[in-house]
Amino acid sequence: MPFMLLRRHVIAAGLAAGALFIAAPAFAQDAVIPARPFVAEPIVHPIPKTAAPMRIGIIGSGNIGGTLGELWAKAGHQVMFSDRDPALAQAQAKRLPGTRVGTGEEAIAYGEAIFIAVPYGAWPAVAKQYGAALRGKIVMEPTNLNLQRDGAAAEAEIKAAGSTGAAVAAHLPGVRLVRVFNATGYTDFAKQAARPVPWMGIPLAASDAAALAIATRLVTDIGFDAVPVPGGLAASAKFELRGPASGVKTAAELRTALGL
Ligand SMILES: NC(=O)c1ccc[n+]([C@@H]2O[C@H](COP(=O)([O-])OP(=O)(O)OC[C@H]3O[C@@H](n4cnc5c(N)ncnc54)[C@H](OP(=O)(O)O)[C@@H]3O)[C@@H](O)[C@H]2O)c1
Repeated sequence: MPFMLLRRHVIAAGLAAGALFIAAPAFAQDAVIPARPFVAEPIVHPIPKTAAPMRIGIIGSGNIGGTLGELWAKAGHQVMFSDRDPALAQAQAKRLPGTRVGTGEEAIAYGEAIFIAVPYGAWPAVAKQYGAALRGKIVMEPTNLNLQRDGAAAEAEIKAAGSTGAAVAAHLPGVRLVRVFNATGYTDFAKQAARPVPWMGIPLAASDAAALAIATRLVTDIGFDAVPVPGGLAASAKFELRGPASGVKTAAELRTALGL
C-alpha cells in the first residue's frame, strides 16, 4: 500500500502494542493521522503578546508544526512555515496573516530558532537535506515514535540510543537540540495554551543551557509553564510520550511526576 494512502488510514489506538507500549494510554497522535487538507485545531484562549519577538522557522507544517506555528504567531513572533509539501506550508501561511512561507533552507536561514515537526522516519532525509545548514542552530523537536508510521527499524534505533531525543540527536551532529512539546497531543496544546492559571506545564531538555533558556522563553510566551529538566538532552528520556510526564499536567504535577 502506498505510504500516502497508508497514513490516511485510521489506526486503532493500542493496535501497535509493540513491546514498548503494552497497556499504555492512548494519545491522539497514536490513533489518527488526519487526511489532508490540514484542519487546524482552534486556539481557545487569547495568547498574550511577547515583548521580545523572535524569528522562528518551521520544518514540517502539519498538526504540531501548524499548531505551534500558529501559537507563536499569535504571541507576536515572526514565523516562516515550510514543508515537504509546499501547498501545506502555503495553506498555513494563508490562514495566519503575517506569517511567511519558504523552503526548508529558507526557514533555517530565517529562524533564530527552528522547530522541526516531522515523523521519526523522516529524520534521515531531513538530516541529509538540512544537516549542514542546521549546524550551530537552535532546533526544537517533538518527535515521537509511531510504530505503524515509522517502522520497527526506527523503534530499534531509539532503543539502541536510549531515548528518542538521543536518537534524533545522532542524526544532527553540531545542532543545539531542544526536546519539547512531545509529551502530549497538538489538540491539547491548542486547547490549553494561555488557559487560566495554573498554566499547563511543558517539560523540556536541551543539549546546552543557552538553547534551553531560549526554548523556555518560547514555551512561556505561548502560555505554558516551562519545566526544564536538568541533565542535558539525556534527561529527555524522563518525559517520553506514555511516560509519567505525559498528558495535561500543571508544572507542579509535572515536577512531582518527574521527581524534580
Ligand atoms: N500530532 C501530535 O499531537 C504530536 C504531538 C507531539 C509530538 N508529535 C510528533 O511530531 C511529529 C509530527 O507529527 P504531526 O502529527 O505534526 O505529523 P503530520 O501532521 O503528519 O506532519 C508532519 C509533516 O512533516 C512533513 N514531512 C515529512 N517528511 C518531511 C521532510 N523530509 N521534510 C519536510 N517535511 C517533511 C510531512 O509531509 P508529508 O505530508 O508530505 O508527509 C507532514 O506535513 C511526529 O514525530 C510526531 O510523533 C506529534
